[in-house]
Order: sequence, then C-alpha cells, then structure tokens
Amino acid sequence: MRSLRAIIALAALLAADVALGLRWNVRNLPPGALHRPPPKRAPKAAGTEYVLVMFGDSYSDTGRTLKASGLPQPDVYWKGRYTNGPNWFDYLQQTLEAKYKTRVFNYAYGGATACRNADMEAAFPYVKPLPNQTDMFLADLKAGAAPRAGPGVRVVPMQWLGGNDIEFVIRAAGMTGVAPTPDDMMKLIAATVKCRIESTLALALSGAVYDIALFPAGPIWMMPRVPVPFKAMVQTLMGLMDAAFVAAVGQAQAQLDALPPGAPGAGVRLHTIGTSAQWMADAFMGTQPPANETTKSCFEESSTFVPDPTLKSRVCTDPEDYAFYDSIHATTRYMAWFTAHGVLPRLQQAGLLPEGL
Ligand SMILES: *[C@@H]1O[C@H](CO)[C@@H](O)[C@H](O)[C@H]1NC(C)=O
Ligand SMILES: *[C@@H]1O[C@H](CO)[C@@H](O)[C@H](O)[C@H]1NC(C)=O
Repeated sequence: MRSLRAIIALAALLAADVALGLRWNVRNLPPGALHRPPPKRAPKAAGTEYVLVMFGDSYSDTGRTLKASGLPQPDVYWKGRYTNGPNWFDYLQQTLEAKYKTRVFNYAYGGATACRNADMEAAFPYVKPLPNQTDMFLADLKAGAAPRAGPGVRVVPMQWLGGNDIEFVIRAAGMTGVAPTPDDMMKLIAATVKCRIESTLALALSGAVYDIALFPAGPIWMMPRVPVPFKAMVQTLMGLMDAAFVAAVGQAQAQLDALPPGAPGAGVRLHTIGTSAQWMADAFMGTQPPANETTKSCFEESSTFVPDPTLKSRVCTDPEDYAFYDSIHATTRYMAWFTAHGVLPRLQQAGLLPEGL
C-alpha cells in the first residue's frame, strides 16, 4: 500500500493548495497508471454470448430504484432511468444486441455510494450501495441465475460509481455551512477508493470473471448542481480520487498476479477505463450536434428521492437542446453520444468488447 499512501500524501498537499484557493489542473497530476496495458484480444466469433454486469448509481440504473420505490417519478423520468430516454447502459446493450446474443445483469441504483452510508441506509434502505450490489451478483452466481465466464461466454463486469460518496459530503457541507477540512476530504477519497477495491477483489475472487472494467468516478464538477465557485475544487478532488484509484487498482492487480495459478482470482485482469474522468467530460462536451445549453439543466429538481407534483410543469419543452436533463443527469442524447464515442471504443481497446459494433 506504499504508493497509495504516497498518492494520498501528495493529494493532501494539493488539497492544501485548494484550501488556499489555488487552481490546479487535473491534467497536470502525475500519471498514476501503474498497471500494464491489457493484451489485445482477437475478435470474438459471432456465436459468443456477452453478459454485461453493471455496478453503479443513477447514471446506470435501468429501473431497480423505480421498482423498489416508485421513483424517479415516471411523469418526468423515462422508465426508471434518470434521464428523458434510454441511458448510456441501455445504448451499450442495444449496440451489442444488434450483433451478439447479450444478457444484462444491472445492479445499479440511483443514489448508490461505493461505501455503505448509514444516513443513506436509514433514509432510503432500498438503495443498495456497491458492497451490496456486489453481493447480489455473487448470490445470483451461486444460485445459477447469472452465468460464469467460460468458453463462448464473455462476462463484462463494469463498476462505475463513487461520485455520490463525494457529492453527499459536499452537499451536507453546503447545508450546514461547515466546510470539510482537506484532511476530511482526503480520508473520504481514501475510504471511497478502498470500498471500490474491496468490491472489485470480492468479484475477482469469485472465480466467475476474467476481466473487470473500472470507470473513473466521473466528471461531477460539470453538473449544474455544483455551484460555479466550487467547480475547480470539485474537479481537483475528483482528479485526486482518480489518481488514488488508479494506484490502488495497480496494487490490487499485483495481489491478483501473485496468486498461484488456478486459485480463484488468478489471471483476472483489472482494466481502468481511462486514468481520469477527463475522457468522460470530453465525450459529453464533444456531443454532436452540440447542445445550446451545457451549463443550465432542462429543469431543476430538489431531490429525485421525493415526489414533486409540480416538477413536470417545470420540465423544459426542448430537452434535446440541453446537455443536462436535471441538475445532475445528462439528457438521453448526451448519453447516446457518450456511449458511442466514449465508453464503447474504450471497452473495445481494453479487449472487453469486439470490434465492428
Ligand atoms: C447491505 O449489506 C449489509 C450486510 O449484509 C446489510 O446489513 C445492509 O442492511 C445492506 N444494506 C442495504 C441498503 O441493503
Ligand atoms: C437552440 O438552437 C436552435 C438552433 O439555433 C434553436 O432553434 C433553439 O431554439 C435553441 N434552443 C434553446 C433552448 O436555446
């Protein structure tokens, strides 16, 4: 865990800069990519079945929270997606289904955090955090409901969350007026990374997967919800978390590589999908045709967890002109571009999905 500590120490220094009001461009961070690039794999035969497994939050939820709670409200949000149409995961599934037999196991919940969060669990016990989502998949494996990777069966587990762990703390600070100290934020980052790695290793040690795709937590500074004066600080924090995460994934990969051949987890490859969330920001900002409005959202919600009878009347008439539907979530047009030009080529480059989709 030495280099993780070194990154955290560096992070603490950078955070002190933030506290002093200095700007720091995340692209200037030292590269933390410690693990080897994955081998290129041969294109798969058309007979191959793909199994998409998703661990995530509201960006990836395809209906679990709606089923459990009746929200996000169906008069404003499309079929339990936190947007005005299919979300990025739906588009990925559609793309793959057009050419291959595809099954999906999506455990994402709106509001999910990487670490268990007592306040969240008390208020919204149906929202499963990452450890519980991972347990759900392991239970489905055990019950034979979910398949294991093997000849003709490519299992593609993807883990994308962690933004809520940070966002909830910033939001709480906004409500109490008490800003977290740099030290608090560094502890939060380290804890969030640790929770992601623990669930990753639990999945790897199941012996049911060969690869795990790990997305950066996301460009949450871009969300209209984050006030302009805080955007640079949030971007810096997310950059620190990305660097700490990439380093921790390298450590976890080394642990897996040290396992004796044949042991559960031996040979599993962890793939960081980009070393920071910059590609996600670029994919959103590069959407064509560009939206007129990339900073304001189509409407403003107070919470997706509380029904609001007046919300529908506040939804704009032209959501496709906006990058953001509500103050957190991209519109479906943005999601589509993000999948086609951001996620898909990267999963292909990692050898997890076939070319020619
Ligand atoms: C998550 O799992 C833990 C341990 O199994 C359990 O105690 C907790 O209630 C679960 N939380 C949720 C929100 O389901
Ligand atoms: C966006 O731009 C188009 C074309 O210029 C225009 O017709 C439309 O009204 C604009 N929408 C908004 C929300 O500004």
